[in-house]
Amino acid sequence: LCARAASSLIASIDQGTSSSRVILYDAVTLRPVASHQVELQSATSNPQAGWSQMDAKRIVGTVTDSAAAALAAAGASASDVVGVGITNQRESTVVWDKRTGEPLYDCILWHDARTATTVSALADELGGQDALRATCGLPLSTYFSGVKLRWLLETVPAVKEGFESGTALVGTVDSWLAWNLTGGAGGRATRHVSDVTNASRHVSDVTNASRTMLMNLSTCGWDGGLVRALGVGAAEGALPTIVSCAEEIGRAPLTGMIGDQQAAMVGQRCFGVGEAKITYGTGAFMLGRPRSRPRIRAVPSSHGLLSTALYRFGASAPTQYALEGAVASCAVGINWFKDSLGMIGTAPEISSLAAQAPSPHLSPDLPVPEGTEGLVFVPAFGGLLAPHWRDDARATLVGLTLAHDKRHVARAVLEGIAHQAKEVTVCMAADTGAALTGLRVDGGVALSDELLQYQADLCGIAVQRPRDVETTALGAAIAAGLGAGVWSSIADIPSSGDDIERTFEPAICEEERTARCASWQKAVESSFGWARE
Ligand code: G3P
Repeated sequence: LCARAASSLIASIDQGTSSSRVILYDAVTLRPVASHQVELQSATSNPQAGWSQMDAKRIVGTVTDSAAAALAAAGASASDVVGVGITNQRESTVVWDKRTGEPLYDCILWHDARTATTVSALADELGGQDALRATCGLPLSTYFSGVKLRWLLETVPAVKEGFESGTALVGTVDSWLAWNLTGGAGGRATRHVSDVTNASRHVSDVTNASRTMLMNLSTCGWDGGLVRALGVGAAEGALPTIVSCAEEIGRAPLTGMIGDQQAAMVGQRCFGVGEAKITYGTGAFMLGRPRSRPRIRAVPSSHGLLSTALYRFGASAPTQYALEGAVASCAVGINWFKDSLGMIGTAPEISSLAAQAPSPHLSPDLPVPEGTEGLVFVPAFGGLLAPHWRDDARATLVGLTLAHDKRHVARAVLEGIAHQAKEVTVCMAADTGAALTGLRVDGGVALSDELLQYQADLCGIAVQRPRDVETTALGAAIAAGLGAGVWSSIADIPSSGDDIERTFEPAICEEERTARCASWQKAVESSFGWARE
């Protein structure tokens, strides 16, 4: 362990779908020192139904502004920072001109559904939705970067020309930020592989690369067969170099990069087999590590989950793997209730409104007792991801009667999140062959007591919330500290101590749980087939 001065800081850049944030951590204790956050709603646009894109320059601008503000709040300067870690919304895709640093199109966001037709044509051509799963661990879906790249190549002439002339680069948000933070268009082109200190680095870490559909999950390198299958061969030379999550990546000093959901696993210290967590953010994402298989081999799923890289700490370290249940809508549904329906002024108000819905009947004599009085909301705004993988699904509110009011809808919105998360816990248990005995949760939406109570009720297991729910940023700080040599291994990382703030225990009986889950399944089936061509 390298002892550092107490004033040394690690900067964690948490670039999410809804905001950019920088948190500065004390490099010795890993305690947060200062932070700054900028919301990104005004940088996001939805030009057509199902489309979602973001001004890529605003992504960089909000990160650099947040870094400056966090340093000012800490009374520190850039020279106090011993390592910078990036964690980011994954799959979202940017193409830019390396001469000017200008994006050639907005960043296409991970939940954008514009590629639905391309995806179904690819599934027909390649032999089904799971045709590429054995190589990349992922089903064909609008979710992943490779199909977004294909759309950009086919639709935006400047992108095709840029790849043909060798002037364009492509990457996920980690790549875009790393390239800009290490010099951008003004960075000197590197002549030597080892000379990274003054060069703009065009890199992607293994966790982000594993979400493109272009990386071979076993070799952790770009795969020519996948590139050809997705029809993006023109961009092959413009893909970033795949690096580990913790190494000296470039100046800044950039020493860590890791996708946000993987970072939350690291922040929760889920390093052992059999560990799992759910992060409730814009979407909700469960990651788990099977007990029964070697963790340095990709784990296949036969229940609709994703096989994904979890982390690699060090250029020559082995890659660790996990299974993931990705759910597209979490805060998305709450924001729809707030902004589109105007039912509440701030997102947290949904919880107090939901709590006013009449409580479930607890008498066993009453049929299907539910706090929503039979109302079920499936938040399939842009389709459903795990475990259904239905691009054609659309959000559905079923069971309405004149007795319902906005309190019931608020509760149905929160229960819709909990139902989706419950589905992926069932798949995780089926894939790993081990029932979950408890569930760790994090992310901003995990501050809702009502949501976590519904989650415990539906899963029938205890749900544990840590004191600090911002584990994503913490995970990137851990990666950056390892990459900077602050700690030589995960065994040296400062302990989080007794970090559980509250445990939510199930409060409904098995019969009621079964009835609610049956209503949910019926509602999910009603959501299929509503996408307009
Ligand atoms: O895969 C998408 C995910 O990385 C987005 O995360 O936190 O912005 O919902 P978040």
